[in-house]
Amino acid sequence: MGAAEQPGLGFAALLRQLRIGAGLTQEELAEAAGVSPRAVSDLERGIHRTAHKDTALLLAGALGVDGQARELFVAAARGRAPAPGVLASVQPQARAASWAAAGGVHGFPVALTSFIGREAATCQVAGLLEEHRLVTVTGPGGSGKTRLAGEVARQVAARFADGAWLAELAPVADPAHVAAVVAATLGVREQPGAPAAEALARALARQQVLLVLDNCEHVIGAAAALCAGLLAACDDVRILATSREPLRIAGEARCRLGPLALPDPDSLADVAGCEAVALFADRARSADAYFALTREVTPAVAGLVTRLDGMPLAIELAAAQAEALGVSGLVERLDERFALLAGADRLAPDRQRSLAAAVDWSYRLLDETQRRVFRAVSVFPAGFTLEGAEAVAGQGAASAVAHLVDCSLLSPPQAGPDGRLRYSMLETLRGYGIARLAEAGEHDDVAAALAGYALGVAEQASAGLQTRAGEPEAARWLDAEDASMRQVLAWAMSRDPQAAQRLAGALGWWWFLRGLRVAAFRVTWPGRWICSPRCGTPWRSGRRPGRWPTPWKAGRRRCGSSTGSPRQPRTPAVPWP
Ligand SMILES: Nc1ncnc2c1ncn2[C@@H]1O[C@H](COP(=O)(O)OP(=O)(O)OP(=O)(O)O)[C@@H](O)[C@H]1O
Ligand SMILES: [Mg+2]
Repeated sequence: MGAAEQPGLGFAALLRQLRIGAGLTQEELAEAAGVSPRAVSDLERGIHRTAHKDTALLLAGALGVDGQARELFVAAARGRAPAPGVLASVQPQARAASWAAAGGVHGFPVALTSFIGREAATCQVAGLLEEHRLVTVTGPGGSGKTRLAGEVARQVAARFADGAWLAELAPVADPAHVAAVVAATLGVREQPGAPAAEALARALARQQVLLVLDNCEHVIGAAAALCAGLLAACDDVRILATSREPLRIAGEARCRLGPLALPDPDSLADVAGCEAVALFADRARSADAYFALTREVTPAVAGLVTRLDGMPLAIELAAAQAEALGVSGLVERLDERFALLAGADRLAPDRQRSLAAAVDWSYRLLDETQRRVFRAVSVFPAGFTLEGAEAVAGQGAASAVAHLVDCSLLSPPQAGPDGRLRYSMLETLRGYGIARLAEAGEHDDVAAALAGYALGVAEQASAGLQTRAGEPEAARWLDAEDASMRQVLAWAMSRDPQAAQRLAGALGWWWFLRGLRVAAFRVTWPGRWICSPRCGTPWRSGRRPGRWPTPWKAGRRRCGSSTGSPRQPRTPAVPWP
């Protein structure tokens, strides 16, 4: 399946892609079509979702869209036909026409597999390149940065008289060789005694070129210096960089590449059309011509790609194993993903031959403190605050967390239900961190630190729950930390029964409010002994709630209704005593 067949591409994106493919600015298209620049801009931004038939015909004429493609284009402009079909018919003609007149692409490998989805990201990066001279696509390993950059370069190359050039930096081990490698890629001869960066700047000074610097992260300082020098010396050079972390120089515009679109967990309708599933199906079919997204297999594929975080490399590696292990076999063994997902493409760079190697590449670029913090924060099952990171990782946690966000090992922070900023990790990265934590022999210490932190949160929040004024905020806080509480309880029940007892005591009132009355009753009823089948020893609630709700009161005072947050499921994830 190609980009052209993807659903969800609106007329706005179609128009933008065609215009960029034809090498026109909005103003140039408007002038060629005889419409106002405002009309083009409004259509591309989706302010007007449809265009008048006459306007559509004028735009089609200016874009060189004719024949049946023109009918489809006009129908899409009128909101009557799916835009993706139009793109399929139009793009090759538009591209061929424009490339004949302008620069093409140089050094880009021929794509042997189809490119799936990413319309929005493609348009965004192409749009950023119109406004900025340096655009960096960042994202975790295997998220598709290189592939996206190649697609964008092919689309916009026509706008550069001297075309687009790819310089691949992944194989460059020594940062001192970066400029020389780029110069060699562009066929620039170095002058004896002069730095390669100077020769490059001199050669590109009068060129109108898009330079794609691929995989900069391991030589980030040298790549940043080269970009800064070229941008200062060459007015018509634009740079598209891909890197797991940004270059961080003046004028850089950054586009973070997230996962492919994942299926809606609440509905199986249109699962096959979603990007992550489409990629899996496409690659599984390449490995096994008989693979089909049947009704039976589709839910398992949807679950699989979701647990693989929608990351293209992981999905491709899994799809390559689908014939041998079956989709359900893969799903059942996903906990062993690092052993399982390896060795699909013999010619892929080492970094991409297994899931473990893809994460290793990033992990090796961290310093000791950053590695320690990365390992430690992977104990949080569902995100954490900066205070949480400091509790489990100790000194240096804050600056290491900032760096981990920068280099795409943590997702950028988002406000949780309690309003505090929370950081999260993709499941694959977290699994890797947990494995490294165990390998370093730090697991028990970090789990104990997490237990101490969870206990502190639970006791502080449960004090807040006792007052009318403090209850809403405390409830939101406990909602946000719920997954950590459950994990700590499960861990402490077998390792530290006293901590489990204290935590259960602190959370007893909260469980009542959340409707988990049976659990709360068993751990907080005064004088009752609680026996954990896991630790085998009876233990008693350490704390009694100040007030004792009658069942009808507990029923009326559910926090879900008072705070507006959703009610929690009645069955807790951890085994109950
Ligand atoms: N949108 C896509 N459609 C189809 N295949 C894709 C897409 N995005 C990525 N892939 C495939 O996934 C794999 C990883 O993609 P890519 O090499 O672009 O990742 P990356 O983010 O550059 O990784 P790294 O950080 O290791 O350089 C490649 O085989 C690529 O072809
Ligand atoms: Mg790459």
